[in-house]
Amino acid sequence: MIKNNLWRRIIFGYIIITLFMLSISFYLIFRLNFFNKVTDSVIKSNIPSIGNSEKLIDNLLEQVRNEKKYIITNDIAFLNLFHKKKNEFFDRLKFLEESVTKEEKILINKIKEWYDKYIEMVSKEFILVGKDKIIPPSTRYEDEKKNILEQITKSINEIILSQQAILIKKIEQLQITVHKSTQISLSLILAAILFGTLFSYFFTRSICLPIKILKDATVRISQGDLDHRIKTPSMDEIGTLGAAFNQMCDRLKELDLMKSEFISNISHNLKTPLTAIREANELMLDEVAGQVSESQIKLLNIMKESTYRLSMMINDILDISRVEAGLMRYNFQYANIDHIIRKSISELSFLAERKNISFNYTDSASIPEVLLDRVKIAQVIDNIFSNAIKFTPLGGTITIKATEIKGSDFSHNMRGGNQINTVRSLVQISISDTGIGIPVEYHKKIFDKFQQVDTKGKSSMKGTGLGLFIARQIIVDHGGDIWVENNRGENGITFHFTLPREYDYTYNG
Ligand SMILES: Nc1ncnc2c1ncn2[C@@H]1O[C@H](COP(=O)(O)OP(=O)(O)OP(=O)(O)O)[C@@H](O)[C@H]1O
Ligand SMILES: [Mg+2]
Repeated sequence: MIKNNLWRRIIFGYIIITLFMLSISFYLIFRLNFFNKVTDSVIKSNIPSIGNSEKLIDNLLEQVRNEKKYIITNDIAFLNLFHKKKNEFFDRLKFLEESVTKEEKILINKIKEWYDKYIEMVSKEFILVGKDKIIPPSTRYEDEKKNILEQITKSINEIILSQQAILIKKIEQLQITVHKSTQISLSLILAAILFGTLFSYFFTRSICLPIKILKDATVRISQGDLDHRIKTPSMDEIGTLGAAFNQMCDRLKELDLMKSEFISNISHNLKTPLTAIREANELMLDEVAGQVSESQIKLLNIMKESTYRLSMMINDILDISRVEAGLMRYNFQYANIDHIIRKSISELSFLAERKNISFNYTDSASIPEVLLDRVKIAQVIDNIFSNAIKFTPLGGTITIKATEIKGSDFSHNMRGGNQINTVRSLVQISISDTGIGIPVEYHKKIFDKFQQVDTKGKSSMKGTGLGLFIARQIIVDHGGDIWVENNRGENGITFHFTLPREYDYTYNG
């Protein structure tokens, strides 16, 4: 069952981001609503209340003017105007009463009381005016009326001031709210951006990293490292892919082992009859079974060469199986490299003679003994010789040199993981031929399995392409190195290999 799959992770991420966006939107709607309410109350209550109060004062002043005009002129039109303004005054006062605070209501009640007094005084005057009895008002009476009017105006002004204070407070409140909302919204947006970025980063990483591991593992498998496996800690689709990849590698490894075992069995079974053929061939050439003619010797030599090549190929195939299974075993002893070179020359001279190729070996008996496996080093030299004979035209020369080099400093693995740290002296063997040479781009490649120079059909000497791969493995296991170099200004190629002679190494048990 797939747990914590990619699909769920994507949905989870998007839900979180959506929730952030929704909370920002809801918060902004809530704040705008509040803003709306406050501005509504300012527009519908405070501003009309202030306007109304100002008009109340105007209205009162007009009443006073009409009252005075009526008393002087006795013109009924002024009286009517006075009454009209009085009614207007009441209406405005009533409207104001509906939209004011408790404290302001107390002020309105006072205004009403003063206004009633004013109307009472004026009404008495009007009765007298109606009877045409104009009595000049006393100073006390006039002062009292003036005082009443002043009290009314003062109270109305107090209401105006109070409403203005409320208005300013509401505007300040709005400013604070807008500021706070901006801050909170910005914080939420920043948090959403931060979460979105982090989520995208970690999510992309959680996909790209395992894909890179898979890609690297595929490259390693394609390079032949069939033991490489990947760790699959995640339980998502990529984890499942990794597990399938590992299964595929296990199967590949199984098939590879089966193939190696099969080839190794066949090769092993081929060896016995081949040895019998070689022995019989040698006996016939030695005329043990009777005299042989010149032409028969020629044919027997062809058989000898072919069976030699065939047995080399079978040995290579068997060695490859051993290298791949990590079963290459060595028998290290101190030995003289000079003896090994001489033996190889004598064993392969029959091949060289057929092409009239001569060996030119500078005597190197003075070279000190080296710790090596005789059979395996002979196999390396045989392979380089047989290659040189194979790729050198008639009449060529193979030159062999062995020298001791002191003071080198490098490290290599030797004998199953024991590490050589410092090499104080080494023996270098160089084998040059006058053959077709090797293009520079192949100088490293030819030491890989099945790598052969593309001769475009010119060379009929095709082998398996395993000889140098095995040679390199043997030399590396001895703690040495192997490489090729073009002959300066001449045809052909030179193979060099080294064997450490004096060295310090760590024994890993
Ligand atoms: N002396 C040489 N001159 C020119 N080419 C060479 C020489 N030695 C090796 N090569 C090139 O390197 C390739 C690899 O050599 P290697 O010995 O590994 O394989 P091989 O000789 O083809 O087959 P075998 O497994 O039978 O040895 C050869 O096929 C050849 O193309
Ligand atoms: Mg070869």
